[in-house]
Amino acid sequence: MPTPQVVMVTGGASGIGAATCRLLTERGFQVVIADLQEELGRNLADELYGLFVHLDVSLPESWTAALDAATTAYGPLHGLVAAAGFKSEYLLGGPLDPELFHRTAAINQLGIILGVQVVGQHLREQGSGSIVNISSGSAMAPTQSPDIAYVSTKWGVRGISRVAAKELSPYGVRVNTVLPGLIRTPMIATIIESFPERVADIEADIPLRRMGEPIDVARAAYFFLSELGSYCTGSELVVDGGSLV
Ligand SMILES: NC(=O)c1ccc[n+]([C@@H]2O[C@H](COP(=O)([O-])OP(=O)(O)OC[C@H]3O[C@@H](n4cnc5c(N)ncnc54)[C@H](O)[C@@H]3O)[C@@H](O)[C@H]2O)c1
Repeated sequence: MPTPQVVMVTGGASGIGAATCRLLTERGFQVVIADLQEELGRNLADELYGLFVHLDVSLPESWTAALDAATTAYGPLHGLVAAAGFKSEYLLGGPLDPELFHRTAAINQLGIILGVQVVGQHLREQGSGSIVNISSGSAMAPTQSPDIAYVSTKWGVRGISRVAAKELSPYGVRVNTVLPGLIRTPMIATIIESFPERVADIEADIPLRRMGEPIDVARAAYFFLSELGSYCTGSELVVDGGSLV
């Protein structure tokens, strides 16, 4: 039997990241779940016969330690799905809160930069690999989120992915971006729980008439990671049930 390809998934303990870990395992990959949430992450790792590594995506030394732990356990990585993310309620007309902006940027933007640097360098040395960064449909048009800090960092993810795609392509490393619409995960649980009566209206406005599920986004990540996306780099795939139409 061929050795499974190893993929690290940040934010792998919950939501889109967890669904990606499940799908990749089903398709024969070996997953490394990298997250702050120890208990959830370890439980999922046990279920999937994978590895949990503690990672704070905003800290360079945390990336180096996570990559060391992953390669010690399984050898070189094939890829990275960068799904860790943070969303606040930083409104354009709300109170000025630079700290909240810095926290959002540290996780959503610096976290993505560190991933393409640390894992990108590792893949570059292997001469192959695939990185999938999770942005947001709100980085195409700010339809889903009024959080201006979040939206600005998700636009940043698109830029980071393009720079990384250009720099890493000559070394056989592809970098692509997935832009999810509204997906039913813990990140948007407060929206769903606070306004249950609005969910039907929200879904009626989506051309496919439903909110997305984490597996919908996981399939797009799988596309880019696997040989299905072999000629894609610097590409962006919107997974939003047609919300931008
Ligand atoms: N749910 C949506 O509607 C939606 C829409 C567009 C984009 N996204 C993006 O999809 C990605 C996954 O989000 P989700 O909806 O699955 O949310 P989620 O809250 O279920 O998962 C996010 C995960 O990121 C982890 N995380 C947060 N900060 C971290 C850090 N500093 N280091 C490591 N891990 C950290 C959390 O512990 C959590 O497990 C995020 O980047 C999010 O911005 C989500």
